[in-house]
Amino acid sequence: MGKATSVKTDICVHPRHRQTQRQGFVVTIDGPAGAGKSTVARALALRLGYAYFDTGALYRAMAWGFHQAGIDCRDTSAMEAFLAAMDIRVSLEEGVTRTIIDNEDVTAHLRSPEMSRLASTVAELPQVRERLLPIQRQYGQRGGIVAEGRDIGTRVFPEAEVKFFLEADLETRTARRHRETVQVGYAETSGEIRRHIQERDAKDRSRDVAPLTPADDAVVIDSSSLTIDQVVERLMKWIPVRP
Ligand code: DC
Repeated sequence: MGKATSVKTDICVHPRHRQTQRQGFVVTIDGPAGAGKSTVARALALRLGYAYFDTGALYRAMAWGFHQAGIDCRDTSAMEAFLAAMDIRVSLEEGVTRTIIDNEDVTAHLRSPEMSRLASTVAELPQVRERLLPIQRQYGQRGGIVAEGRDIGTRVFPEAEVKFFLEADLETRTARRHRETVQVGYAETSGEIRRHIQERDAKDRSRDVAPLTPADDAVVIDSSSLTIDQVVERLMKWIPVRP
């Protein structure tokens, strides 16, 4: 009888909404480059008092690590040996995902156009995705996180309570990336950025492992004609009110 009572208690609350000993929900935001994920995820995390996790920083850090070590991704045994030996950690600070490889903080090196391109190649490697999976998952255990990337709702946190997929048309995404690129001091033209976005989209969407696609239970939002604040307001409507 005692057993039956405890089972009944369990099924009263859907596991995805159980908040026991957790610090909040896991919120995932996936989508293509330039859809506004980072800005929106940061703003949402701030509103909710949650940690912000930019998982793309991990793939960029891997790209940086390969680049520094002079490893060609096609050389499987060198690549696997590097992955096995390297130490990679992240530190989630307010609005910034710091990435540390072998005790060196590599965060400042990751936003260049070269790292953007290399990261999308590195992200196609199943060995890299496997290596990064547990690192990402450990941050979801206690909830209270907004994590953005490509496969967060489908693969990293399939049990997340709230999932979003942000989209925007190619012209909007190109203009946004161009502004960001200029801000961080790189001189790519709009035409180059558009081409690179298309190339990365094709890779992200067509790779065999964890391709970019909305989770079945994700809320899909097109941010092309919306301001950041408008997108954040829309997302907020989907965050369950805590009991
Ligand atoms: O979001 P970003 O541009 O910083 O991502 C860099 C690359 O990493 C991008 O080409 C896609 C890849 N990525 C991924 O495959 N899965 C993630 N969860 C996050 C990023």
